[in-house]
Amino acid sequence: MSIQPLRVGVIGAGTVGREVVRAFLERSPRLMPSDGAPLVLTAVAEKFTERAIANGIPEALLTDAPAHLVASTDVDVIVETMGGAEPAHTLVAAALQHGKSVVTANKHIVAHYGPELERLAREAGVPFRFEAAVGGGIPLLGPIAQDLAANRIARVRGIVNGTTNYMLTAMTREGRDYAEVLAEAQAKGYAEADPTADVEGLDALNKLVILARLAFGAWIDPAAVSNRPGTTTGAPGLPGITGVTAEDVAALAAEGRVLRLIATTRLAEDGAIEASVVPTAVPAESPFGRCDGVLNRVEVDGLPVGRVAFEGPGAGGPAAAAAVLSDLVSIARGLGSTWAGSPAAAERSAIEVRPVAGECVAAPSGACYPVGD
Ligand SMILES: NC(=O)c1ccc[n+]([C@@H]2O[C@H](COP(=O)([O-])OP(=O)(O)OC[C@H]3O[C@@H](n4cnc5c(N)ncnc54)[C@H](OP(=O)(O)O)[C@@H]3O)[C@@H](O)[C@H]2O)c1
Repeated sequence: MSIQPLRVGVIGAGTVGREVVRAFLERSPRLMPSDGAPLVLTAVAEKFTERAIANGIPEALLTDAPAHLVASTDVDVIVETMGGAEPAHTLVAAALQHGKSVVTANKHIVAHYGPELERLAREAGVPFRFEAAVGGGIPLLGPIAQDLAANRIARVRGIVNGTTNYMLTAMTREGRDYAEVLAEAQAKGYAEADPTADVEGLDALNKLVILARLAFGAWIDPAAVSNRPGTTTGAPGLPGITGVTAEDVAALAAEGRVLRLIATTRLAEDGAIEASVVPTAVPAESPFGRCDGVLNRVEVDGLPVGRVAFEGPGAGGPAAAAAVLSDLVSIARGLGSTWAGSPAAAERSAIEVRPVAGECVAAPSGACYPVGD
């Protein structure tokens, strides 16, 4: 008996989507799992179809109307790689309501609309997968949800934003200041023209919300996550890495420490969830201190397993597309959603979220950076 193929529609063929489409056009045997349904690409939605044709996507596959694709009876699985808040959120919600499986790389919509999207997926009984949204090509969410399921996870922390890690690494190695390093990162394509989401820690904060969902079974509100270090006056510091100065970096280096933007979430004794995304002073010779450039590293502390670490390419079209394609194969194998068999997440309103508590080290700018190990 032959298994019906799963028909895939891709929305947004940019850096990530283009690599997903390429794997289909090259007829990758990985998309024909021997233990599941074959995956076939039936449509690609792009804003400017001429550009997509010039990029090698066959005209017959192309449409400029993603809403039609989401409602089409010829598509079983939607891959959302357009990014941004809207219309991505509305399209993904509509796809789930139409009973389609969804794979997205979009951390913004998963973090901000996670409770709604999870509810819609559960109501429709369709898989919703988002491995590419955190850690790019690093298999991270699946292992937390499945392979570590028998553990009590106490803390997840990590370097989850390549742009800021590249910038902090350059500031440390070359003693240059923030503005100069940011301009260089923009010139090299590591930072966007509007770098706010990266440098203020908002991108990392979205990823932390997703990690907390899988580790603790709760969708925390992104607005409740702290992205400002403390200061010696007690007032909140500047967001993300925007307040880090060359003098701060040099003073910490003299003590054998380096700054890394570390996203941390921890389950407190009283059931509250602690969550922060702040520049953290870690020993230069620690695993986080040695995690340089655009690499990502995430550590999970669980009982009884102890500490488990994941490190690798946290961004880039091919790496993120690898995660999207793996999600598609998981759907073809009938493996369900990224949260695997875990129960529905706790209501946002039922969870207290507060900044991660701990000691900090004062720096010349007046910031007091948390101390990490
Ligand atoms: N790049 C990475 O390394 C990476 C890694 C992990 C996750 N992600 C996530 O993956 C998603 C996509 O990122 P990306 O880097 O691939 O972005 P991108 O290069 O900007 O690609 C997005 C594509 O979607 C198209 N698009 C936007 N709005 C559309 C609409 N209404 N209808 C049809 N097409 C539309 C864009 O066209 P225009 O260019 O004409 O607007 C563009 O071709 C984001 O959520 C991002 O956070 C990216």
